[in-house]
Amino acid sequence: MTEILTIALPKGRVLRAVAPLLGRAGVDPDVLLADDRSLVREARGVGLRFLLVKPDDVATYVEYGAAELGVCGRDTLMERSYDVYQPLDLGVGKCRMVVAGVAGKAAPADVPRVATKYSRSAALHFARKGVQAEVIHLHGSVELAPVTGLADLIVDLVETGETLAQNGLEERDLVAQISSVLVANRAAYKLRQERIRPLIETLRAVVGTRERRASHPPAGT
Ligand code: PRP
Repeated sequence: MTEILTIALPKGRVLRAVAPLLGRAGVDPDVLLADDRSLVREARGVGLRFLLVKPDDVATYVEYGAAELGVCGRDTLMERSYDVYQPLDLGVGKCRMVVAGVAGKAAPADVPRVATKYSRSAALHFARKGVQAEVIHLHGSVELAPVTGLADLIVDLVETGETLAQNGLEERDLVAQISSVLVANRAAYKLRQERIRPLIETLRAVVGTRERRASHPPAGT
């Protein structure tokens, strides 16, 4: 009998992007996308079990071995040093981490206040630029901070740019390109390699095919 492999996945929009990738590895996407409250999903026949967790918690589940594999954003991995392998960039969940401020209004030259969920990444970014900044930690809706005067700037993720635009903000600087990464528990990666490596290679092939299609779309698309 195939031993079950446990994979932690982030609930939300990245899950919708990852489900088709796993579909190519034999997982029925409906198992992942079913609209119910169960947090453990079994993909019968392929020996996989999925844990649906908060995006920021995926790497913790994998680091401690509660899941052998997981999918998490580079933004999460930049914020804390997790002791996990990162064998594959999945090429989904693409966005960028940026500095933004009120459109047309310069930030103060001395010690700008920067609101963000990404305190470590923001502090490192401004330190690299040689700018002393006061970082204010928020848990979400950070676009409100410059609008209300709480901060001069924000560091946040931008995908379409719609949220910045609708709140009168503009991009000022790139902090990092972000995408979703497959992470692996270090012990499991060695001890269960006969189960883990073929799955990684299948996903690598799927990601490669998608990227080739994206860079060479068929004529007429
Ligand atoms: C993320 C991010 C921005 C928004 C960017 O927020 O923090 O607010 O998406 O997307 P856009 O450029 O396509 O508008 P999310 O919806 O994850 O909620 P949050 O504010 O709670 O982080």
